[in-house]
Amino acid sequence: MKSLLIVAAALMTSWIAPLAQANEDPLLDEARKVAMSLPPKLQATLQAEIVKSDFQGAITACKEMAPKIAGEISKESGWKIKRVSLKARNDARATPDAWEKAALEAFDKRAAAGESPAKLEKGERIGSEYRYVKALPVQALCLGCHGKPDQITPEVKAALSQHYPQDQATGYSEGEIRGAITIRKTLP
Ligand code: HEC
Repeated sequence: MKSLLIVAAALMTSWIAPLAQANEDPLLDEARKVAMSLPPKLQATLQAEIVKSDFQGAITACKEMAPKIAGEISKESGWKIKRVSLKARNDARATPDAWEKAALEAFDKRAAAGESPAKLEKGERIGSEYRYVKALPVQALCLGCHGKPDQITPEVKAALSQHYPQDQATGYSEGEIRGAITIRKTLP
C-alpha cells in the first residue's frame, strides 16, 4: 500500500503536461480548459478509492464516478464531455464515432513517430459544432487496471471480467495512448 501511495503522489504532478499556451482560437482554448478539468477530478477520485479499497474496489468507483464527474463538467460548462478509446473497456460508453476514431488513429501514428502523447490534441469546427479531443497517455498508476496480464492482480482480473466481459482495455505499457477525452458544443 505504501508503494501505491508513492506512485499516486508522483502521478499528481505528472498527470497533465502543460499544454496551456494561449491560442489564437478562443474556442480551442476554451475546449482545452474544459477537457483538461476532467483528469484531475477523476484521478483524485481514483486515488482516494485505491487507498480506501485497493484497485479492485476502485473499479466500481470508476464505473460510477467517471460519468458522474463528466456530467457535472457538462452541466457547468455547456460542453458535452466523455472518454473514448480504440480498445474500449465500457464499449457502450466509450466507442468512438468516425471523427473520434480518425483522431485516435492519427494520435497513435504521431506518438509512434516520436511526438509526446501528452501533447496530442485536435480541435475543429464541424458544421454547427466545435469538437475537441485530447489524448490520455498511460501512466504508472493505470497499469494495475490497464497493464499487461502480469501487472494486474487476480482480484482485479476477476472484477474486470465480472463488470466488463468484453474488456479490450488491458495490455498497455506506459506512454501508450489509452484513449481520449472528447468534448463538443453546438455553436450559437
Ligand atoms: C482501479 C482501476 C483503474 C485504474 C487504476 C485506471 N482505470 Fe481507466 N478504467 C477503469 C474502468 C473500470 C473503466 C471503465 C469505466 C466505465 O465503465 O465507464 C476505465 C475506463 C477508462 C477509459 C474510458 C474508455 C474505456 O475504455 O472505457 C479511459 C480513457 C481510461 N480508463 C484511462 C485510464 C488512464 C489514463 C488511467 C491512468 C491514469 C486509468 N484509466 C486508470 C479502471 C481503471
